Amino acid sequence: MAKILVTGGLGYIGSHTVVALIDQGHQVSIIDDLSNSSLDVLEGIFKITGQNPDFQKLDLRQFDAVKSYFDVNKNIDGVIHFAASKAVGESVENPLLYYHNNLTGMINLLRFVSASKFIFSSSCTVYGTPDTLPITELAPIKSAISPYGNTKQIGEEILRDVVKAEQNFSAIALRYFNPIGAHQSALIGELPLGVPQNLVPFITQTAAGLRSAIQVYGNDYETADGTCIRDYIHVMDLAEAHVVAVERLLNQKNNDRFEVFNIGTGAGCSVLEVIKSFERTTQVKLSYKFAPRREGDVVEIYADTTKARDILGWQASRNLDDSLKSAWLWEQHVRNIS
Ligand code: NAD
Ligand code: WQD
Repeated sequence: MAKILVTGGLGYIGSHTVVALIDQGHQVSIIDDLSNSSLDVLEGIFKITGQNPDFQKLDLRQFDAVKSYFDVNKNIDGVIHFAASKAVGESVENPLLYYHNNLTGMINLLRFVSASKFIFSSSCTVYGTPDTLPITELAPIKSAISPYGNTKQIGEEILRDVVKAEQNFSAIALRYFNPIGAHQSALIGELPLGVPQNLVPFITQTAAGLRSAIQVYGNDYETADGTCIRDYIHVMDLAEAHVVAVERLLNQKNNDRFEVFNIGTGAGCSVLEVIKSFERTTQVKLSYKFAPRREGDVVEIYADTTKARDILGWQASRNLDDSLKSAWLWEQHVRNIS
């Protein structure tokens, strides 16, 4: 059993990872400023696991508060760092908010955990538009499409440098593809504020009657059905990848002190395939219409998962139907639909 600090642990991916860590017998402490989450999530975690992880409301941008936290909380074996702002469009409108939150928060944290094992939430967004598919970790990092994407690229660079400077520090960056779905209990899940920007929450809210129709952004792309292709990964598969990654560092099984892994399923699915899969698995008919292309969308991206499978020893075990079914169960739970 190890003591793991999870920043952003009440958020979407963080909360599922907390559950996966507790399932594996780890002791979890959570830091979150509740800027994009709520205390209710702790109740969901308790109902699933029977445990109340230690929780501290704390904004990682506040250096003095971070220092006070680590004055009291010592002997942390590993850190999983999720806390960040993540809306791509908002980052274009308010870049300084993103550079401040995602980078200052991370730097403040790293000042106190430089003798630790560190897992970083990176993103497939670091690849931009791929030259070849499926995309491997060796693909070039291109100029970032958004300030948000840039914070992920810079976050990885910071880790590369800290690893060189601090002999007792090791880190893994996990480049997530598109996380969707919810815990099978439907007691925790994704709770976007306002109108969802991402496809799957928009689908489940449309199915629940909150939205009249899904807008499919573009049907004239050079793909089989004209819509964009992504690699949608079940959030519990993603959560389990974090457990495997932190245990790899704790057990000193890593080959380098900084490693990067793609975390996806390896399968590319179009927007229309997602809509059809949702309808098939839930038996709920969706209303959708074609709309113009969304600015900044990559046409097609999906992961080469060979490195995650062969070196990290992890692969996704749930498919698109499982993910969408769990997303719908969660939406029904949130809206009290039976
Ligand atoms: P989320 O917004 O649900 O969770 C992030 C959590 O961090 C929230 O609970 C928020 O309140 C907290 N937080 C934000 N700023 C903070 C600060 N300064 N101090 C303390 N807590 C703070 O997002 P998520 O979808 O769970 O994403 C988690 C991480 O994964 C983020 O770093 C995100 O960039 C990355 N990521 C997400 C996706 C995705 O599609 N969801 C894809 C790739 C990478
Ligand atoms: C998926 C597909 C849309 C909504 C974003 C971030 C990325 C990463 C994951 C953090 C696209 C289409 C969507 C809708 C639609 N996050 N779509 N109608 O854009 O792949 O990735 O989340 O790191 O950085 O950019 O995800 O869910 O928004 O879109 O047709 O109402 O669904 O055009 O093809 P995306 P998404």
